[in-house]
Amino acid sequence: MADERDEIRSRVSIVDLVGRTIRLTKAGKTWKGLCPFHPDKNPSLTVTDTTGRYKCWSCGESGDIFTWVMKTQNVEFGEAIRDLAAMAGVELSRGPATPPSVRQAQLSAMEAALEFFRGQLGKSSAATEYCDRRGLDADVRAEWELGYAPDVGEALAVHLKKTGHSLAECKSIFLVDQDAAGGYFDKFRSRLMFPIRDERGKLVAFGGRILGDGHPKYINSGDTPIYRKSRVLYGLNRARQALQEQKRAVLVEGYLDAIACHRAGLTTAVASLGTALADDHVALLKRWCSEVVLLYDSDEAGQKATDRAAKMLASESLTVRVAGLEDGDDPDTLLRREGPAALRRSVENAVSVLDFSMARIAKRYAPSQEGFWSESVAQLAEAKSLLEIEPHVARLSAQYPGIRNPVDAAAALRKMVDRARRSERRPTAPRRAVSVEHHSSGAGLSSAEVTVLAALLSDAYRDRAWGFVSQSAEVAETSPGLDMFRAIAAAFAESAPEGKPSEWLHLIEPESLRGSLSDVPLDFRAENLTAAKLDDAIELLYRGAKMREVTAMKQSETLDDSKRAEIVERLSQLKSDSKAAGPEQDPAL
Ligand code: UTP
Ligand code: MN
Repeated sequence: MADERDEIRSRVSIVDLVGRTIRLTKAGKTWKGLCPFHPDKNPSLTVTDTTGRYKCWSCGESGDIFTWVMKTQNVEFGEAIRDLAAMAGVELSRGPATPPSVRQAQLSAMEAALEFFRGQLGKSSAATEYCDRRGLDADVRAEWELGYAPDVGEALAVHLKKTGHSLAECKSIFLVDQDAAGGYFDKFRSRLMFPIRDERGKLVAFGGRILGDGHPKYINSGDTPIYRKSRVLYGLNRARQALQEQKRAVLVEGYLDAIACHRAGLTTAVASLGTALADDHVALLKRWCSEVVLLYDSDEAGQKATDRAAKMLASESLTVRVAGLEDGDDPDTLLRREGPAALRRSVENAVSVLDFSMARIAKRYAPSQEGFWSESVAQLAEAKSLLEIEPHVARLSAQYPGIRNPVDAAAALRKMVDRARRSERRPTAPRRAVSVEHHSSGAGLSSAEVTVLAALLSDAYRDRAWGFVSQSAEVAETSPGLDMFRAIAAAFAESAPEGKPSEWLHLIEPESLRGSLSDVPLDFRAENLTAAKLDDAIELLYRGAKMREVTAMKQSETLDDSKRAEIVERLSQLKSDSKAAGPEQDPAL
């Protein structure tokens, strides 16, 4: 495989490949063009044939022919290498497990079955009437290629055989089955048929709904050589264009919900089918979008599924929002009762996972009930950022029983949340660094840097923190810290940020830093912060910078006697500083 990869690489020119989608102009030894991975005004993508690589100087995307195909076509490596091998005329030794001819026969049997089902739909008044009742008019039926599996035990089997398909093969793809005597019969009978295509449009499975009530409501193709249900999202083939533009998917539970969303103009809707959301689904979504709006049924099962899906998506760094529906609704019923605008509105009004969970608690309990507080606190304890919980603390502090003063109530609440976090923390969870140099937050900031950032996010210490960062960004001790401090200093060169962080965070560039800033751990939030702690942190950063400077001096070329004396002097100064460290000290370098 590795040899083949090299061979393909040697045969496909990166400039030719990129040049197929982007206009490139020659610039010295390399080529330049508009970067497709971010909104680019000046050509910042450079493509170099000698190295076989592309790189965007603005957004940082870079790679070779394989990543180019994977990223621009949204395909996985296996598919990229197959496409490129075909382009290069290289034969891959280890192809797909099924020989191409067999795979072709399977896909063609699937298409034959679909054609059959679609023909049958027109012939069944029961089926068309059912569709009409559910608002699936002729246009929708055509667009989604709906069909009908008749109530004859082997109608499809007979048709497939007549059209030259091997029934043994059809059995392997869940179209027919065999009875004890070896005769073939249909898997789907008397059902409204939904064809399931993968993201590239290949027909890989079917779902069949009973007309009206009955059990089981749906029969879905099981996993077959051409279908893995955990890897396919219903509607993705129809959603991909809009997804590429919007980067935001609407995730629903069922076939009819996905169709309802598309009918309402929510054309990025997809459904995980007959199965809970799987890791592979999440990976698939991640290739197509950066944000997912969950629009699940409002029933208990739907709520549980929402919680679970939200966790899975968030853990893959997708932004998750939740669209709430009235009790008893699903997207399809809402569309039919209140129309497309109502369904679109529910997606537009989607809120963060925390806001959604908090609203759900407020719906279940009154503030006079114990459950209201215990569940609110438990929920807030799961939040990961300071920014997220503060609006809730502010709102709840006005209702807190027994404490009149909202400021005191807020402090009490924060303490409860903090305690809940600590007791819930599992041994495997990242430990909070108390006096250790480096804080364990994913951002790689040191604890002193985190303290300064937490101060910047607080009302009380913002000015002090800003004064420090804007003057002395360079003393940051980690490189993520340096990036962050510089970005803050650049965004607020003239004056300290004003108002709630949510009102000024967007001024910080690049956007990726905003996330790390709002992720500043709760352990360092305002309540724990004191003026003395902030000053200690600032002091520590200054001292570290001095130390680094002295070290650099020590390592620099030749030391004459006066330099050596200066170093000794500075080191002893640093030592006495650290003993007498106090807020009055002049921190200037
Ligand atoms: P729902 O029961 O919510 O069905 O299941 P629905 O699609 O909204 O259909 P209506 O509106 O009640 O007619 C949601 C999804 O779960 C899977 C199907 O994919 C369905 O679309 N499911 C449900 C099954 O696979 N089997 C079942 O028996 C039920
Ligand atoms: Mn439903």
